[in-house]
Amino acid sequence: MGLFDRFQALRGLLDDAVAQYGANPFAVKMERVLSPTEAIVNGRPTILAGTNNYLGLTFNEECKAAAIDAVHSEGTGTTGSRIANGSYALHKNLEAELARFYGRRHAMIYTTGYQANLAVLSTLAGSEDYLILDADSHASIYDASRLGAATVIRFKHNDPTDLDKRLTRLAGTGGNKVIVVEGIYSMLGDQAPLAEFAEVKRKHGAYIVVDEAHSMGVLGATGRGLAEAAGCEADIDFVVGTFSKSLGAIGGFCVSDHADFDIMRVVSRPYMFSASLPPSVVASVTTALKVIEERPELRTRLWANVNTLYG
Ligand SMILES: Cc1ncc(COP(=O)(O)O)c(C=O)c1O
Repeated sequence: MGLFDRFQALRGLLDDAVAQYGANPFAVKMERVLSPTEAIVNGRPTILAGTNNYLGLTFNEECKAAAIDAVHSEGTGTTGSRIANGSYALHKNLEAELARFYGRRHAMIYTTGYQANLAVLSTLAGSEDYLILDADSHASIYDASRLGAATVIRFKHNDPTDLDKRLTRLAGTGGNKVIVVEGIYSMLGDQAPLAEFAEVKRKHGAYIVVDEAHSMGVLGATGRGLAEAAGCEADIDFVVGTFSKSLGAIGGFCVSDHADFDIMRVVSRPYMFSASLPPSVVASVTTALKVIEERPELRTRLWANVNTLYG
């Protein structure tokens, strides 16, 4: 049997989809990106309706200037992980800024949002513990559960009653219970009933991690995400997020008040064994965070656009 033979059925499905819809997603090439919302595709100006560029910051002048300055002063890359040669003052400063923005004691940054989930979730729940995931969780959350050693349990999407039922069944078992939900779901676009989940978490003495990848900068009075909008930040043990959406770059983060948080720097393999973010990205993200804080009108405009589109 050939190496890729087991994917033949999938290849057939892909070919059918291309034949039926006349478009192969991997064949679409942006010949030139004109702005956060427009690119030249097949020689034609095309509206980009499928990006995660919620606040349009990829072309923000301040962010671009910060990135360019950082290339000039610090070079194009760090060529090493944080634990080796990849911790610059810029990285430390962004962690301090994120901790301040979220009003938390600690923050760590990662090279992608995907790695943030891999690192945090595979570390928090050990072999005696339980990772309790919303069934519609992002692939990075599922992949994290495979990297770690915890027992994985899924509950029905956005269903606090089902979560309660599953935690009740675990009553009396040893080990920590770590619940994982998203702020806004990546594929469905709906929001978690976070205050209800927080109540269930309190009842069972569990921990809760919220992935605010799509809700940071989008929800909450100051853009901290769904936990802020739902008024339950004090109940959230760990917030994970990404720089690749509203912040317009790439990278990931986790913030928490947990006293031993920093130990993750020496036990999370996706953090320890991958090169740190290049200075240009750290600089543009640090600036984007400032822009989110200083310009709440970007969020107001986003929601006005949403209401126009769906209204
Ligand atoms: C909920 C969620 N978490 C994590 C990620 C991974 O983030 P990144 O693409 O920045 O690695 C994504 C990406 O789409 C996501 O939707």
